[in-house]
Amino acid sequence: MAEPSSIDLATEICGIGLDGPVLNGSGTFDALAARKVFGDALIEDFPFDCYVSKTITMNPRPGNPPYRLWETPSGMINSIGLPGPGLEGFLARDLDGLAEFGVPLIVSVMADQVEDFEVLVARVAARDEVAGIELNVSCPNVHSGLIVGEQPSETEALMKALRPITEKPLVVKLTPNVANPHEVAVAAEAGGADAVSMINTVKAAAIDPTVNRAWLGAGAGGLSGPAVRPIALAQVRAVAEAVTIPVIGMGGITDSESALEFILAGARVVAVGTENFRDPRAGNAVKDGLPAALRRRGFASLAEAQSATLG
Ligand code: SIN
Repeated sequence: MAEPSSIDLATEICGIGLDGPVLNGSGTFDALAARKVFGDALIEDFPFDCYVSKTITMNPRPGNPPYRLWETPSGMINSIGLPGPGLEGFLARDLDGLAEFGVPLIVSVMADQVEDFEVLVARVAARDEVAGIELNVSCPNVHSGLIVGEQPSETEALMKALRPITEKPLVVKLTPNVANPHEVAVAAEAGGADAVSMINTVKAAAIDPTVNRAWLGAGAGGLSGPAVRPIALAQVRAVAEAVTIPVIGMGGITDSESALEFILAGARVVAVGTENFRDPRAGNAVKDGLPAALRRRGFASLAEAQSATLG
């Protein structure tokens, strides 16, 4: 029988329709900066089926002191510290531009108190350009960034406070830096989360090769890239088995094969992160290669792979 010439990659994540299953990890692809480099060509062939913004905070933040990056074998450590224009700056300066890329927009937000999360969610959700909101309770690089996301009871309480504010999808970004991420995921679902995304970076450090001190200005950071992929796959699988809400899987995806591994581990859709730093068209390559990768593994559709169970 002749091989089908193409496989339909259309899918959805908590009601947001997507042309395909490839997102970006928050903070790994600056679409506004990329547009300055690539011009309208970026819009014509956008690398992702859904764009996730850099994490927005209530007030402007300068981020962490340098150095902020360290390359490792098969990965990198970042300690960026969520620099950004703050909520008002984002709404006034960035949101219109991000809405021009023609794909659904998920805005990532982070706060260190519930009241600020409430304001962030209310203000962002009120904008028509925004399809969903990701709650970053897993950044290892800011003081208190992890406190909520490390504790199931705190995560559930946060979700219960935020759930009544909007009907738009709320996605909880999970940390891998706990013994049992599925317990946090279960709590997020109990509190009303529509999806979880995972993994954020794994706590890590680097030592300056020339003097006896930590390389990163903040002392430590978070490891990402292919080095963390096996950890991410194990955690995605454990979480996908524990919750009924969809999982957005990421952690060292470099190509369509590794993207498909996450789908088979239980992720509904995937996100490309660190690879975007090496190749800003990595998302295009992952998308373009998925039909062939699906066929190689014997799937006639993306949906078949999404519902496959691992042996
Ligand atoms: C950062 O800006 O430090 C990285 C964001 C994150 O880990 O959530």
